[in-house]
Amino acid sequence: MTEANTQPEVNIGLVGHVDHGKTTLVQALSGSWTDQHSEEMKRGISIRLGYADATFRRCPGVDAPECYTVDEECADGSASEPIRTVSFVDAPGHETLMATMLSGASIMDGAVLVVSATEDVPQAQTEEHLMALDLIGIENIVVAQNKVDLVDRDRAVDNYEQIREFVEGTVAEDAPIVPVSAQQEVNMDLLIDAIESEIPTPDRDPGESARMYAARSFDINRPGATAADLKGGVVGGSLVSGELSVGDGLEIRPGREVDEGGQTEWRPLETTVRSLQAGSNDVESARPGGLLGVGTGLDPSLTKGDALAGQVAGEPGTLPPTRNEFEMQVDLLDRVVGKEDDESGESDIEEISTGEPLMLTVGTATTVGAVTSARDGECEVSLKRPVCAEAGAQIAINRRVGARWRLIGVGTLS
Ligand code: GTP
Repeated sequence: MTEANTQPEVNIGLVGHVDHGKTTLVQALSGSWTDQHSEEMKRGISIRLGYADATFRRCPGVDAPECYTVDEECADGSASEPIRTVSFVDAPGHETLMATMLSGASIMDGAVLVVSATEDVPQAQTEEHLMALDLIGIENIVVAQNKVDLVDRDRAVDNYEQIREFVEGTVAEDAPIVPVSAQQEVNMDLLIDAIESEIPTPDRDPGESARMYAARSFDINRPGATAADLKGGVVGGSLVSGELSVGDGLEIRPGREVDEGGQTEWRPLETTVRSLQAGSNDVESARPGGLLGVGTGLDPSLTKGDALAGQVAGEPGTLPPTRNEFEMQVDLLDRVVGKEDDESGESDIEEISTGEPLMLTVGTATTVGAVTSARDGECEVSLKRPVCAEAGAQIAINRRVGARWRLIGVGTLS
């Protein structure tokens, strides 16, 4: 890897219970990261799903794991060598943001589950997030046992055993558990070592057509900008396949809602890629990995305020169909996970019934659907807002339990 080529090549989710230290850990690992996004871009894309890039480095002549660092300078004053740049997707831990966490999961190649050593295991979102990783099939996981600076040795060992027991039988069963202090930057080398071996960069086929999941969209123009200065709409998201270059044609689906003679329908948008920001650079072309900001020729009013979040962009003519309704195979969990003791509502998960509303996350899109027909292991839903998705796509299914939406299972689009 050269210094100039630091586009992130893999997306790593940071998941875990609120306040267990995800944000602090990202800061510790991306310490050397300098953000060269324009202010507008930065404000626009790093908020909802926080992204931060980190370049992992190695000190030559030093054994693993001590050789791993994010600093450009090694302990002996020599220069470290870059290994690869990763992009952390810092999913919010707050319960109401579970849908955002699930949209993030669709673009994660692996995940670091952050568990605080100061609390019993599992806390509500620790369980819920691990279940989501399990359901969505994210198998490359590292557990960071954080805040070990706040507990004594016995407590740390007890907590470690609790984590072991908790992950048994889940997708994280064999995941390494690395004790760290994100705040004191202790054991960051061990953590990088674990990430390097557990979360490899996926093999990607550069010949595939470009496909991007939009997580955000915005208007970067300042109020009162003159027509001559006006910049086209910007779409922020993650490329999941292919390559995208400046000058490429771009189709975005479902697109925009058009009202004609009292009838509304969704029409795909077509435009061209005018600029690209990947990692911290303006680039001519980008590959999957990290967050991409795509400057387009679209009227900025179409991209304002995340209007295109959840949509799919790619080479014109290659995108999956827009669906106003669909049928899915359903796999339900046995019980509601992540419920706090004082919450009302049933803990067992009942079969899905006709007429009930479900919140569905498909890729980065979250939409509400009404169940129009439900049979054993299968159901049909009619969506409030259409999604662009292909047969076989995975869908996270949420039901209202008590006061909030709860993950109850996963669907596969028929
Ligand atoms: P949400 O984004 O709200 O889900 O929280 P989070 O998981 O990102 O937690 P955050 O990084 O904001 O940390 C919560 C608090 O714990 C902050 O006050 C941190 O300073 C503190 N903290 C995080 N890691 C450590 C650690 O390793 N040791 C100590 N002592 N405190 C820590």
